[in-house]
Amino acid sequence: MSWREGIVYQVYPRSFQDSDGDGVGDLPGITARLDHLEWLGVDALWVSPFYPSPLADFGYDVSDYTDVDPMFGSLPDFDRLTAAAHARGLKVLVDLVACHTSIQHAWFRDHPEWYVWARGDRPPNNWTSAFGGPAWTRFDDERWYLHSFYPEQPDLDWRNPEVVAAMQEVVRFWVARGADGFRLDAIDRLAKDPQMRDDPPSEEPFGLPLLDHERGRDFRHSRNAAWIGEALGAIREAAGDALLIGEVYLPAHKHAPYLEHLDRAFVFELIQSPWEPGALRHAVAAGAAVEGRSGPGATWALSNHDFGRFSARFGRRNERAAALLLMTLPGTACIYQGDEIGQGIGPGGDPPYDRVGRDVFRHPMQWDRTPGGGFSVSRPWLPVVDPAARNVADQREDPGSLLSFWRELIALRKGLGPGFRMLDGDPGVIAYERGNVRVAINAGDAPVAVPDGEVVLATAPAAAALAPGDAALVKPA
Ligand code: NOJ
Repeated sequence: MSWREGIVYQVYPRSFQDSDGDGVGDLPGITARLDHLEWLGVDALWVSPFYPSPLADFGYDVSDYTDVDPMFGSLPDFDRLTAAAHARGLKVLVDLVACHTSIQHAWFRDHPEWYVWARGDRPPNNWTSAFGGPAWTRFDDERWYLHSFYPEQPDLDWRNPEVVAAMQEVVRFWVARGADGFRLDAIDRLAKDPQMRDDPPSEEPFGLPLLDHERGRDFRHSRNAAWIGEALGAIREAAGDALLIGEVYLPAHKHAPYLEHLDRAFVFELIQSPWEPGALRHAVAAGAAVEGRSGPGATWALSNHDFGRFSARFGRRNERAAALLLMTLPGTACIYQGDEIGQGIGPGGDPPYDRVGRDVFRHPMQWDRTPGGGFSVSRPWLPVVDPAARNVADQREDPGSLLSFWRELIALRKGLGPGFRMLDGDPGVIAYERGNVRVAINAGDAPVAVPDGEVVLATAPAAAALAPGDAALVKPA
């Protein structure tokens, strides 16, 4: 199996490993912990942004695309990380934030024409920011600028060929430095209606279970415009054969135009799904149906730094069954740091650093049972939650731990053949064929029979029935 269909491990650099004692994780910290990733058996790491940034959105507001924020290290630190990862057979994906820059990026000052503007007394249309409120902020007496996210993140105008060329340079820069691919941030927001028409009202949801402030509107003009392929084609041209995984915040059945140029897109149906058989089956079927440029088009994730921790969303009882699900789906699978030991959601930040309340998913990695979790020798930027209850060192020693179970699954995934087919059956069960094995996941509330055949791996010791929250992988007789 190519690494492209393997496992990407998401590192949130602020919270992975602090190497210089300032309470914030950094690139040398990641390098120092690569042993964990190699031991786990993943194929690649995606590192969330480490660019210079005023940190209005923790690095997703970039003020220089071709450097490293001193808080996270330096360009030589990136080179050392990449070299060390490659020496261990791990690929490195960089987070490309192409939709917007920081308002403090020199481009905003030196090339205002690279951004999206409107003139007048009021905003030109009803477009909204992903975080709520208008997507327009007044710049001076005459002008408004567009921001799909925070006001500190003005949107670039991808209709301007100079913007396209500048971002192509960025892509080439990281490829030349050894990046093997990119996660493309907020890529469905890149292309907007050039006429800037209002988004019409709609009773139908736009697609995904929407955020409350996104109900009642069809976002056809403020994002996902038909010309997206032009922009993506330019990114592909600069990226060559690098793996491109899009954060396409649309239902999977709308991913096709993106996947003409990208290899994969995240399946948000799964990241947002509750532990409920209908929703899970819908998510799996939706993502499995998508074809990417270099194989199955899905990148599956259970958690990330925006949408929470799967152990909290699904409940501890279902943790192992969910891991078995993730590791047997077709396409690329993504594990968010800490999920392998079942890190839960922690208390909110103090002070709350992130204005949309996402800090609870970003607590430091718990490496050992010391009070600081082995993350930092000083006070971490967010408290470490429960290192005595769950940490890498203890779980590594325990063959019955969640971490050991993930590791077994990861090894097993490498041997799964291609091919995927959903199977009918009990309404509480998500059942499918993957290559030459069958998977059954009991997300219902009654026991069900284990499929016939040799049980290769199961969440509970061999039994005649799968209890709710259990799952099994079976080689049919
Ligand atoms: C998606 C990122 O995952 C999120 O953290 C960020 O706030 C937005 N894109 C804007 O860049």
